[in-house]
Amino acid sequence: MKETSLIRRRFHRNWISLAGAIVALGSFFAFLLLFVIDIMQHQGNPYLGILAYVVAPMFLFLGVGLIVLGIYLERRQAIRSGQVSAHTAFTIDLSRPRDKRVLALFIWGTVIFLILTAIGSTQTYHYTESISFCGQACHEPMEPEFVAYQQSPHARVECVDCHVGSGAAYYVKAKLNGVHQLLAMVGNSYQRPIPTPIKGLRPAQDTCEQCHWPQRFSGNLDKSFHHFLSDEHNTPFSVRLLLNVGGGDHPNYPSGGIHWHVSESNRVEYIATDDKRQVIPWVRYTKPGGEVVEYRTKGFKGNPADYEVRTMDCMDCHNRPAHLFNSPNDEVDLALHTGRLDRSMPWLRSNAVWILTREYDTKDQARAAIAAQVNAVYPGHPQAPAAVAELQRIYGANFFPEMKADWRSYPDNRSHKEWTGCFRCHAGDHSTADGKDSISSGDCNGCHVILAQGAGEDLQRLNPAGHTFFHIDSDFEMFTCSECHNGQLQEGM
Ligand code: HEC
Ligand code: HEC
Ligand code: HEC
Ligand code: HEC
Ligand code: HEC
Ligand code: HEC
Repeated sequence: MKETSLIRRRFHRNWISLAGAIVALGSFFAFLLLFVIDIMQHQGNPYLGILAYVVAPMFLFLGVGLIVLGIYLERRQAIRSGQVSAHTAFTIDLSRPRDKRVLALFIWGTVIFLILTAIGSTQTYHYTESISFCGQACHEPMEPEFVAYQQSPHARVECVDCHVGSGAAYYVKAKLNGVHQLLAMVGNSYQRPIPTPIKGLRPAQDTCEQCHWPQRFSGNLDKSFHHFLSDEHNTPFSVRLLLNVGGGDHPNYPSGGIHWHVSESNRVEYIATDDKRQVIPWVRYTKPGGEVVEYRTKGFKGNPADYEVRTMDCMDCHNRPAHLFNSPNDEVDLALHTGRLDRSMPWLRSNAVWILTREYDTKDQARAAIAAQVNAVYPGHPQAPAAVAELQRIYGANFFPEMKADWRSYPDNRSHKEWTGCFRCHAGDHSTADGKDSISSGDCNGCHVILAQGAGEDLQRLNPAGHTFFHIDSDFEMFTCSECHNGQLQEGM
């Protein structure tokens, strides 16, 4: 009997188990060391996090797995060669001091291992949910989104609040997705730019609406848009709008306005015939009483059932709440308005947009070219160095040539000037089959009133009923705004 006691046979003394023990012990100390460094550091380092909470635990498990495998193989070998009977149970004789010691060691080892696994896995959980993991660990592919996010109104909202939301099912789904993305990262096979809309993004009810309660939307928003013309004097032209944002269906607040679409009692559904959801030929509106109205464009002869029917939510207008790549027109206008670009430099508005929109392969190349071009056009101008610095900043924050990401790759649906946006449905060409009803459009005061426009004294003349829009070019009404306003208008375009 003595010979067949498993513990006595020392199955763990074999090369595989030994290697496993070394791996396990090594990764265990590595984990401890990284763990201590990580809690001592104030700013989380994405690579340290990966090593501590993903790589080290993986090796620890590998090591333990090898130890067990070694014991198993050794035992099988012993059974085959007849040294041990296959029926020998795993007996432990507590009267033997050695067995007692081994058992105690085993129990303590298990307890410590379980505690560390618990700490490690909560750390791993928190780490893989952190902004630094999502935004910085895969540096190159995530750079555009991370940079844009940091200057968005949501810079203090965590990535996972919008991209995962609460609940275990979505956590697991996101992690499985993550494995897929990791493989794409390792194989360098990710798409440039990363395509949107994101398929399977969690419905806004579970993400956005956890913070923004639709019932409480109310009132108007007074917003000014400051522009400059592409002429020699960079002539200012501003528009001050009163946006009728309106609200959902709280019993004590009026419902209507722009947020009418997300009121619980209205349902607006649509199909898009392109990948970016820019062409919407069919819309279905279910009224509070259940009555259904279907609108379609004249040109659309297809069957809506052949497409994915999507219910409108926040993301159909606010599709860039955290990753807005501003157009060169908007950025240059803002810089002129705030004085970071000097309006007294002739043609600066037009030249700046031209310089920003040349083709550059890398950010470094762009930085050098911006400096060279500004200095060539404004040699010795006292404001030239400031202009160079500002244009380099604008480029750095909004253009990502390595990922082919800039405003052109990501339509913003919240407006109708640079992208079709609201006019995907509100351009006046969506009617019911009998032609009696169509989605409201044409009236420029339906969504906002123009309180004031122009420059200087003109901007003081407020009209609460709304001014008629004054446009530089009188021909504009024959086209939708975005057919000309592509975000890079400049002299001669
Ligand atoms: C306020 C909510 C919000 C936050 C916070 C947020 N995102 Fe997004 N993200 C979105 C939305 C909405 C989209 C676009 C979805 C669409 O068009 O389908 C998006 C798109 C993306 C895309 C796809 C490419 C693109 O630009 O459309 C990536 C990648 C991404 N986000 C990564 C991140 C990372 C990394 C973080 C944290 C650093 C983050 N997001 C934080 C809402 C958010
Ligand atoms: C964790 C809470 C949180 C979540 C989730 C969240 N937001 Fe926000 N949102 C904020 C905060 C905070 C602000 C900034 C408010 C401020 O500065 O006035 C904000 C601002 C906004 C604004 C105003 C932006 C502006 O230009 O002033 C919009 C629009 C918006 N959020 C839409 C969304 C959408 C769409 C989603 C879902 C994709 C979303 N939010 C998810 C907290 C959140
Ligand atoms: C039909 C398009 C549309 C839909 C759908 C929509 N919004 Fe808006 N929302 C707008 C516009 C336009 C504004 C005006 C301000 C702006 O440009 O951001 C706005 C303004 C806001 C603001 C800023 C309000 C303020 O007073 O500063 C928040 C926050 C917001 N929306 C959140 C949401 C959330 C959350 C949802 C989904 C429940 C949603 N929106 C659905 C178009 C929409
Ligand atoms: C997918 C199609 C679609 C898109 C995109 C869309 N709408 Fe609408 N909208 C509708 C439908 C349908 C109605 C209801 C029919 C009507 O009022 O003519 C409506 C109604 C409205 C109303 C009237 C609400 C009321 O009080 O009765 C306003 C205001 C409005 N939309 C603003 C906007 C704005 C601003 C945008 C862009 C940020 C936008 N819509 C984008 C489909 C759309
Ligand atoms: C379906 C609703 C809707 C209709 C109809 C509409 N607008 Fe707008 N408009 C918007 C929204 C939403 C914005 C963007 C607000 C924002 O960016 O915060 C906007 C922005 C603007 C701006 C400022 C853009 C900028 O960058 O300077 C102007 C000017 C403007 N609209 C003019 C018009 C004119 C002219 C018409 C009539 C041909 C019109 N709008 C019809 C919803 C509408
Ligand atoms: C036929 C082409 C065309 C159409 C259509 C058009 N615009 Fe313009 N718009 C221009 C040009 C060209 C300028 C002058 C740009 C410059 O000098 O930089 C301009 C200037 C403007 C400006 C002031 C300066 C600037 O660059 O922003 C605003 C605001 C504006 N347009 C809004 C609109 C709106 C809103 C619509 C749709 C209702 C519209 N435009 C339709 C061509 C057009």
